[in-house]
Amino acid sequence: MATERRAYFNGEYVPESEARVSIFDSALMFGDMVFEMTRTYNHEPFRLREHLERLYAGIKTLEIDCGLTVDEMEAVTLETIDVNMDHFPEGVDMQIMHDVSRGPLPKYEMAVPGGLKPTVSINCWPLTDDLAGLADSYDTGVHAITVPQQSVPSRLIDPKIKNRSRIYYQIAAMQANKTEPGSYPILVDDDGFLTEGTGANFFLVKNSELFTPEGRNILRGVTRGAVMDVAANQGIPCHERNLEPYDIVTADEAFFTSTSQAIMPVTQFNGLPIGSGKVGAMVRCLLHAFGQMVGVDIVAQAKQYKQASGL
Ligand SMILES: Cc1ncc(COP(=O)(O)O)c(C=O)c1O
Repeated sequence: MATERRAYFNGEYVPESEARVSIFDSALMFGDMVFEMTRTYNHEPFRLREHLERLYAGIKTLEIDCGLTVDEMEAVTLETIDVNMDHFPEGVDMQIMHDVSRGPLPKYEMAVPGGLKPTVSINCWPLTDDLAGLADSYDTGVHAITVPQQSVPSRLIDPKIKNRSRIYYQIAAMQANKTEPGSYPILVDDDGFLTEGTGANFFLVKNSELFTPEGRNILRGVTRGAVMDVAANQGIPCHERNLEPYDIVTADEAFFTSTSQAIMPVTQFNGLPIGSGKVGAMVRCLLHAFGQMVGVDIVAQAKQYKQASGL
């Protein structure tokens, strides 16, 4: 077994610590980079093609010639998983990160050995630490709060493109953490309608139906789509609609969705309990059905990671 995980970096496999982006890269200069985060369940990547299609929508929008077709990117992703599999014992799932930029800016060509080419990186990282730290939150739910930082509307920078110009998410997270350490920000758009968290989509439950912000000023999460599929299979109506903070205050339950966490219950909003203030029946039902779809008990896995980490 290689002692270090290896990253696919511009056509080669290199030790993770040696995969370095140039200081002249457009990613660093402009945040001009698109990315993806996929995860495995039982070592199988979940909806990889969907993640890659979203990545390629970004690549097309930014007019980056990354040198790989989506089929080739899929093949090389599966190879990267294989190359690293020895580092992932049974039960330890991974996140797979894709990062693509147009590479170093032409102006700095002289300082770039090997000449200008796009930056294409794929790496695998264990989900154990992230999920171990969240294990208890599946039982208690998390606290979501509104923050002064707003979402950037799609007419300015389209959040449907998963891009690295993410300073506003970072500011929102800092603001939330200052107001209440450990809380999760939830952003609104120009009109005050709810959009998303800084790394997650948002749903609420009212009268046994699901409601989620329209797909306009948000990243249309792969997990958001998967939860909609699960809801449809369970006969649970799901509506995409403009929602306001008021709708969270008056909701029965709420939750975030994201690749790594799947479904994370939200039980408090701006210091107020949502519904009973406890994880509700709908969230439990969706977590169970989602777990059945992917073949992993989401909550049990997080608890197992927590136990193994000695947290
Ligand atoms: C801003 C934002 N919204 C939503 C999501 C959830 O998307 P997905 O379910 O594809 O992980 C993410 C994931 O990183 C995100 O960064």
